[in-house]
Amino acid sequence: MNIQEKDKRYCWHPMTQHKTERTPPVITSAKGAVLVDSDGNEILDMISSWWTSIHGHSNDELNQALIEQVEQVEHVMFAGFSHPPAIHLSEMLAQNLPGDLNRVFYSDNGSSAIEISLKIAYQYWRNKGEDKRTKFLAFDGAYHGDTVGAMSLGKGCGFFKLFEGLTFDITTLPYADTWQGDATIEEREAKALAEIEEIINKTKHEVAALIVEPLVQGAGGLRMSRPEFMKQVTEMAQKNDILVIYDEVAVGFGRTGELFACQKIDVTPDLICLSKGLSAGYLPMAVTVATDRIYDVFLSDDVEKGFLHSHTFSANPLACAVALKSLKMFIDNDVLQDVKNIEQKHLAFIDVIKGMPNVHKARVMGPILAFNLTEERNGYKNTMSEELRRWFFDNGLNIRPIGSVVYLMPPYCITDEQLQRAYDGIVEGLNFISGRQDLAA
Ligand SMILES: Cc1ncc(COP(=O)(O)O)c(C=O)c1O
Repeated sequence: MNIQEKDKRYCWHPMTQHKTERTPPVITSAKGAVLVDSDGNEILDMISSWWTSIHGHSNDELNQALIEQVEQVEHVMFAGFSHPPAIHLSEMLAQNLPGDLNRVFYSDNGSSAIEISLKIAYQYWRNKGEDKRTKFLAFDGAYHGDTVGAMSLGKGCGFFKLFEGLTFDITTLPYADTWQGDATIEEREAKALAEIEEIINKTKHEVAALIVEPLVQGAGGLRMSRPEFMKQVTEMAQKNDILVIYDEVAVGFGRTGELFACQKIDVTPDLICLSKGLSAGYLPMAVTVATDRIYDVFLSDDVEKGFLHSHTFSANPLACAVALKSLKMFIDNDVLQDVKNIEQKHLAFIDVIKGMPNVHKARVMGPILAFNLTEERNGYKNTMSEELRRWFFDNGLNIRPIGSVVYLMPPYCITDEQLQRAYDGIVEGLNFISGRQDLAA
């Protein structure tokens, strides 16, 4: 068996219907924005390998940090022990996050970071003796991960109908998404805010927390919102004593143009979840950061008032060392300027495609560009986008539409020439599917 046949025989891939899906390319090396497969073909990674590799693949500075750490200590359990990479990373995260978001709890994937935020919020109210606060608010269209608690919060994205019996009840809030040239946003925001206010007034004594994907809903379709809207919702909840959890698993580390979306919105959430860009695509890691105010409620002579939650690989030193280096690179290498340059190029490209058939609601936020193939949001299965994904792949581009939404989320090291190749690919790909539609008509 060759290596691809072995993959087919032994691997079970995520988000894959193996009966119909082609055998994937086997990636044997990668550098910057380029993946290279076992046949030597180059693929431009325009979605940063599920939004993780923010500085590109096999970055020399990150490689060095990893090598240095592996020669010191590769892993030590984080209950009862600590180590310099976790201590320095926690300090640097606290220094770069707003307000008193100072207490860093480690786990190893985004969904776990969300579960932890849920459990902290839930226990916070138990510790304070407010046992009635057991409910959660989340937005329509939200996606917070694939574990059971995260699926419950993500009911609004519609991916989890099959598992509804497993999930708990939440209250869904209306979301006001926007795009370039959107003339109705103020009206739709006002309507959504009025509805949210009514829900909060009705439920506030039972609600433990509101969870938000600030500024960009990721897997739910790259739906973008304005900072003004997010700020008003956040302040409304906090004023009513509802804890606010920011799920910045996808948007943290530059994806909205600022280091963190909460800075762009100008608020301090009570809890923030980070993963993906945190360890720059090198090793699985996530954090849930709490304010001092929340942390203090867990201090007690009673052991059970502590947060008795753990993951075996919490604060793995290798992942922490890479994450620390990655965060330093934002400051030392002025990475946010690269992000701004990408944003400018995306905005110019939107002008090129906005009149094309099958391009709706084109939008840009920082280094993220997205548009819909159809007028309305529709489900994960979309034939047109499936054809387009295959076309992109056949043409050396890792662009993987979500349902009817085509998007780019490149690593920040992408060159102008590589970006142009992706833009040309989108135009050609769109012409290809328009041609197929004409033939079918
Ligand atoms: C906003 C958001 N939250 C949570 C998650 C879950 O992260 P993970 O896939 O690491 O469990 C994701 C993953 O895409 C996400 O986009």
